[in-house]
Amino acid sequence: MIVYHEPSRTYTLHTKHTTYQLAVHPTGVVQHVYYGPRLRDCDLTGLLRYADRGFSPNPEEAGADRTFSLDTTPQEYSTCGVGDFRLPSIEFELTCGSRTADLRYARGQIRRGKYALEGLPAFYGGEEEWETLSVVLRDDAAQAEVELLYGVLEEYDLITRSVLVRNAGQGPVRLCRCASLCLDLPRSDLDMVTFNGAHMMERCPSRAPLRPGIQSAGSVRGASSHQHNPFVILCDREANEDYGLCYGAMLLYSGNFQAAVETGQFENARLVMGVNPCHFTWTLEPGEVFSAPEAAMVCSEAGLGEMSRRFHRAIRDRLVRDRLRGRRKPVLVNNWEATYFDFDPEKLLAIAREAAALGVELFVLDDGWFGKRDDDNSGLGDWQVNTDKLPGGLEALAPAINDLGLSFGLWVEPEMVSEDSDLYRAHPDWALQVPGRTPARGRNQLVLDFSRREIRDHIYAQLHRVLSSAPVTYVKWDMNRSLSGVWSAALPPQRQGEVYHRCVLGVYEMLERLRTDFPEILVEGCCGGGGRFDGGMLYYTPQIWCSDNTDAIDRLRIQYGTSFCYPVCTMGAHVSAVPNEQNGRVTPLETRGIAAMSGAFGYELDLSKCTPEEKACIRRQIETYKARWELLQLGDYYRLTDPFREGPYTAWEQVSPDRREALVSVVFGGARAVSPFRVLKLKGLDPGARYQVDGAGCWGGDALMYAGFPLPAVKGDYQAVQLHLTAVDD
Ligand code: DGJ
Repeated sequence: MIVYHEPSRTYTLHTKHTTYQLAVHPTGVVQHVYYGPRLRDCDLTGLLRYADRGFSPNPEEAGADRTFSLDTTPQEYSTCGVGDFRLPSIEFELTCGSRTADLRYARGQIRRGKYALEGLPAFYGGEEEWETLSVVLRDDAAQAEVELLYGVLEEYDLITRSVLVRNAGQGPVRLCRCASLCLDLPRSDLDMVTFNGAHMMERCPSRAPLRPGIQSAGSVRGASSHQHNPFVILCDREANEDYGLCYGAMLLYSGNFQAAVETGQFENARLVMGVNPCHFTWTLEPGEVFSAPEAAMVCSEAGLGEMSRRFHRAIRDRLVRDRLRGRRKPVLVNNWEATYFDFDPEKLLAIAREAAALGVELFVLDDGWFGKRDDDNSGLGDWQVNTDKLPGGLEALAPAINDLGLSFGLWVEPEMVSEDSDLYRAHPDWALQVPGRTPARGRNQLVLDFSRREIRDHIYAQLHRVLSSAPVTYVKWDMNRSLSGVWSAALPPQRQGEVYHRCVLGVYEMLERLRTDFPEILVEGCCGGGGRFDGGMLYYTPQIWCSDNTDAIDRLRIQYGTSFCYPVCTMGAHVSAVPNEQNGRVTPLETRGIAAMSGAFGYELDLSKCTPEEKACIRRQIETYKARWELLQLGDYYRLTDPFREGPYTAWEQVSPDRREALVSVVFGGARAVSPFRVLKLKGLDPGARYQVDGAGCWGGDALMYAGFPLPAVKGDYQAVQLHLTAVDD
């Protein structure tokens, strides 16, 4: 519900459990008043305080009042260079050369339904469940209108934000910065949590108290990156999984981003999140509009666990556009770690034959099927089947796979080009390269200029042909290097600051085309694993390969970190062979299955080489997954331990929304001869219900949560157990 209160000139946004308020000050400055647990009052402007502070200038409209300053008042969307010295949200380059922005309220409007953002990912839903607040601000010197958009999805406790900048003048308007979200909080005694890492170790949480100055996470890699994720948390210092006030903010964007928090002089904090201003400028001709990518916020007063569950529900139901919504996704086998580039139809069919016998439903042919691609030095850009390797092409292979009872999926990497490819030989100027500089190669490949429609069309036409030539039901869309030397031959010098963002828009446009033309295809995102795991991609690709690291123990950490924002059903996770390809660790097959089934589940090993015992185990795993998928994928997710603290085990739990069923997964660390008697306290159960615990009798929900469940003693490294609980009627 959104309410406008005329006497106080406040707009109040209510979700089921939270309230957000902004106010229009008599000067026309739009102030941020409150974000937190739901309140009844509609005028909270008494929370705003004013004082004459030294070195904090007063805007013209304040007249003789020296207590009103942009430097001290909390703002909805911070300005630049006009008296607020904290993080700016927007910056124009005026025709005189000044880089400033100053905004005053023009009008506001509340309407049913959700605003639309052309060409950008966004949360969606019916007219009846969304409300939109539009607040239009004006910068007369810049000849621009800045429209702040707020979407309220009440039932899900989600507030979305975006910003439209409109050229309202007669000449060009130049933007140098345009954030999606600005959140001014009245306190700085908060912790900031960011999700950081590297290729093969993504989204490791890092938590630290805010300190004076600016703390930030961001990317200039052209993708949201393995290194930082466009999701951050600000929370009470003592907040934990079950307790404390937490703000989560995600950006639905897959390119260069920045999420920065500045601790102000007066123990306040400002979060600004959006497209990274580094390498960014945008020119608007008269009447043109720039749309900032959408950001989404959740506030939970009940700790990090509840914050995550609110994001999970909203992402699952109102962001991901899944053709298999409400149905189980196929269990897949991918040939990458089984064969790498070294395959022929016999090898592939041998894996597929075994997979079908074990209950797998989808076979995915990974890298190496096209062009001249026997290793990763060549072939990208030539999206025709290599018939030396696959005689008869996909027209022969896919039906043969289908005959075994499996559907067929295919890997592609459309944004890239190898210099050793027919495409590059014909169009060397299609790769992003700075004139006069030599290009930096990544995985020995270059990046195509996806800001250019004709290049996207060329690649898309090839993909369309391939995907139409065979019954393909799944595509893995990969991207295997960071962008550097970003310069487009299609844009004039003064518009080169648009190329990174235009490339992201190009990827979104291609993915949307793919979705429209092949609605039956499930697309999995991938960027050398989890280098583009963000809300932007999830709008087009309902699942994303979580990491190139398939070791079950490392995956516990990666999936744990990922779970702070993103739901289990979005995290591609496979059982692979041991010793693990990435770190050499040996873990039991049972453990690998338990880790992977809390993800978009599959296998990535040569099943034709498994022993009869291993096959029996895999068959059992797939049966378990098929029986419990709803709980695993759609249940409420509880982190029971933190795998980054070297505890004796890692545990997590999925609970059905009606709390009648739960699944608890526990993975132990290294073997110990004498281990203490341990109990694990469960969460999210009905304290008044009684639960049948598989093979362990009947337990009260209260006992399981407050006293705990006695964990079995295990022998050997990295053992795992899974407990299934069902409520029983007395
Ligand atoms: C990186 C991906 O993450 C892997 O799973 C695999 O598809 C390779 N690329 C193929 O080149």
